[in-house]
Amino acid sequence: MSSCGRGDAATRRALAEWVAYLREIGVRDLAAAAPRPVGERAAPAPARPSAPPAKEPARRASRPELFSLADSASGGPSDPVARLREIREEIGDCRRCRLHERRTQIVFGVGNPSAGLMFVGEGPGAEEDARGEPFVGRAGKKLDEMIRSVGLERGDVYIANVVKCRPPDNRTPEADEASTCSPFLFAQIEAIRPRVIVALGAPAAKTLLGSRLGITQIRGTWGSFRGIPVMPTFHPAYLLRAYTQENRRKVWEDLKAARLKLDEGP
Ligand code: URA
Repeated sequence: MSSCGRGDAATRRALAEWVAYLREIGVRDLAAAAPRPVGERAAPAPARPSAPPAKEPARRASRPELFSLADSASGGPSDPVARLREIREEIGDCRRCRLHERRTQIVFGVGNPSAGLMFVGEGPGAEEDARGEPFVGRAGKKLDEMIRSVGLERGDVYIANVVKCRPPDNRTPEADEASTCSPFLFAQIEAIRPRVIVALGAPAAKTLLGSRLGITQIRGTWGSFRGIPVMPTFHPAYLLRAYTQENRRKVWEDLKAARLKLDEGP
């Protein structure tokens, strides 16, 4: 083999390792050009959903502490891929809380690292635990529908959970589990800096907004996490359980408001 051939093989190996690594931190699609600016959509969206203007953001009390990773990634603090890689490395083979005992794997997050819209769920279920990707089970299919209903694809947005390990029997994460794991979610949000976040269900809304109110009370009202507008709505698993016309309409209204906010631009 010529030295050129050896070089090609080494380059291919290095590239394969890099792609495998990107997959591990949740990047599924690589753009041929530079990453899209935050908020820009991958594909032209269908007609804007018709919805009344979003309500003004409500003031929320809680601002959880900043995650303290140094801004030392090779791409600098504004390189979301490098930041996500650092965060995944920081999580490591996490044993910080009891959820590690029964997990198959850590479910970090998935999607566009420069997404304008981010969805935050509660924690991985059985299928997510098996596949290492959030929202791939029944609730995930419903979430995909929700995303498509506002003219976006799963690959346009970023999806993560409050806790990265599956709670046994899909129970709600305990407060200490959520508070141990949420700094990693906050760091993901800081890395991606989405323009809009949709909080799916009560644990996500509570973690991001610090609200003690139930999801039925706060859904559809804007909150804010470190200056980023947050729209709480029903979790897709709840929607599957309580599949009424009224609940579907409410989620649709919330998603339309989120989409309109995204389209407003920075
Ligand atoms: N429910 C969640 O909250 N997150 C997932 O990843 C899957 C189901």
